[in-house]
Amino acid sequence: MIDSNAPLNTPSDDPAAQRARLRRARAALPRAYRDEASRLALQRLIRTPWFPAARHIGLYLPFGAEADPLHLCDLTRGVGKVFHVPILSSGISGQLMFAPLARAGCWRTNRFGIAEPRLPAGLLRRPIRLDLVVTPLAGFDPACNRLGMGGGFYDRSFAFRNGRGRWRRPRQVGLAFEAQKLDRLPAADWDVPLDAVVTERATYFHDRPTGY
Ligand SMILES: Nc1ncnc2c1ncn2[C@@H]1O[C@H](COP(=O)(O)OP(=O)(O)O)[C@@H](O)[C@H]1O
Ligand SMILES: [Mg+2]
Repeated sequence: MIDSNAPLNTPSDDPAAQRARLRRARAALPRAYRDEASRLALQRLIRTPWFPAARHIGLYLPFGAEADPLHLCDLTRGVGKVFHVPILSSGISGQLMFAPLARAGCWRTNRFGIAEPRLPAGLLRRPIRLDLVVTPLAGFDPACNRLGMGGGFYDRSFAFRNGRGRWRRPRQVGLAFEAQKLDRLPAADWDVPLDAVVTERATYFHDRPTGY
């Protein structure tokens, strides 16, 4: 039985050890649990104030035992959303670009073993042109600080969100299992906090929207 409320922080944790432990905690969740938990978390995403107006939405292809955002395609069928997935192998080095899922025909595998649509550069969308980005993570804390996979790709690609006045678009929402929650994560200068994190059990807001 998994106690998903148990805090996973220990004082001596370094980020690499933390990522490894969080990956094991995630992998210990049965497949059926992960599918159902992903759907529950996505239903919470749909209920955030940002979802109804969001048209261009970034998703990701789940790697290993990550929460699966692709269920969103079924949950929102026919509602006019345009879904995109990140690609590494194009654009500026170290930055993500987003490819429209519906246009994906040919796929290739990137250097991390993750599939990416192979599409002409003209069809790719820059991060700043998305409305909402469902963001993968290794761990998070209730203040919506994010521990990524260690490559800094999302931090680099969404660094503009940390700028003066804080850009309102796109919103970034982490998709996670409760088992990935840590008491508190230290944030580096370059870390970009999420607007919210949704799990099977709760919605955590960086700044709670008024009236929510
Ligand atoms: N905006 C940025 N510009 C340049 N390098 C960055 C930026 N954001 C992150 N990085 C680099 O990415 C590396 C990994 O970032 P980190 O936050 O540790 O990983 P992750 O966010 O994947 O958990 C950092 O050591 C940093 O050098
Ligand atoms: Mg980071």
